[in-house]
Amino acid sequence: MPATVIDGKKIADRFLEKAKQQAEQPIERHITPKLAVVLVGKNKASELYVKRKKQACERVGVEFDLKRFEETVTEKELVTLVKGLNSTFSVHGILVQLPLPQHIDQHRILDQISPLKDVDGFTSFNIGLLAHGKEEFVACTAKGIVNLIESTSRRIEGSNACIVNHSIVVGKPLALMLLNRNATVTTCHEFTKDVAQHTKQADFLITAVGKPGLIKADMVKEGAVVIDAGIAREGSKLLGDVEFEKVKEVASFITPVPGGVGPMTVACLLENTVRAAQLQHR
Ligand code: GUN
Repeated sequence: MPATVIDGKKIADRFLEKAKQQAEQPIERHITPKLAVVLVGKNKASELYVKRKKQACERVGVEFDLKRFEETVTEKELVTLVKGLNSTFSVHGILVQLPLPQHIDQHRILDQISPLKDVDGFTSFNIGLLAHGKEEFVACTAKGIVNLIESTSRRIEGSNACIVNHSIVVGKPLALMLLNRNATVTTCHEFTKDVAQHTKQADFLITAVGKPGLIKADMVKEGAVVIDAGIAREGSKLLGDVEFEKVKEVASFITPVPGGVGPMTVACLLENTVRAAQLQHR
């Protein structure tokens, strides 16, 4: 039997509706949750992601404040901006869109964000908490993926999970989240000698590389849950990492691209932002 296609858009819609209800509580007290987004340069993918975040904010009733900078911005200017946002009472969430230009030390900027406003969960503080099993503000893509996995009701505890990505945005926080749920986690990346050897063992296979066709049917265990967070563009078409039609015949659940992980990432950002507003005005 072919795999069930997980409808990320539908699940994300439910999360957004819940975030909207939650956003109303601070609004009743005359506090509108507000997200500040820092966007540097003219990266096309980043522009699109930021647009989606803005649309979701409008839908949920969260204010959206975009801070745009030229590619030539200095580290010092960004640090000053983030410090200013930290001490701005009306801003509850701060997101620095990645990637930043090469001349900027990404970690240095991200670590300036107040952990209470760190709705992306990228600060050392929040990643440290995650490593301790405390999921306060967790990276939105990782959180979205775990929500999609949980929607299948497949048992994570005792399972083998394989992640093909080791970035701070997806792979590292996701590995910690799955370890917190007692999976055995393997993380593959560009230096992994034989990726297929690992993916074949996985009850949960998550990929986020941006290489269409990377994950073929013979790399997937029968009955696996396959989550595709890869994004590549071919003209106007969006493509994931997984050979969808063929892998669908092997897996038990599979996410499409688009309409899988993407909408869930945005929904989790809104959930984090509303929560940040609630925590700051408790
Ligand atoms: N670039 C790609 N994905 C993300 C994300 O989830 N957050 C941020 N800040 N930048 C990204």
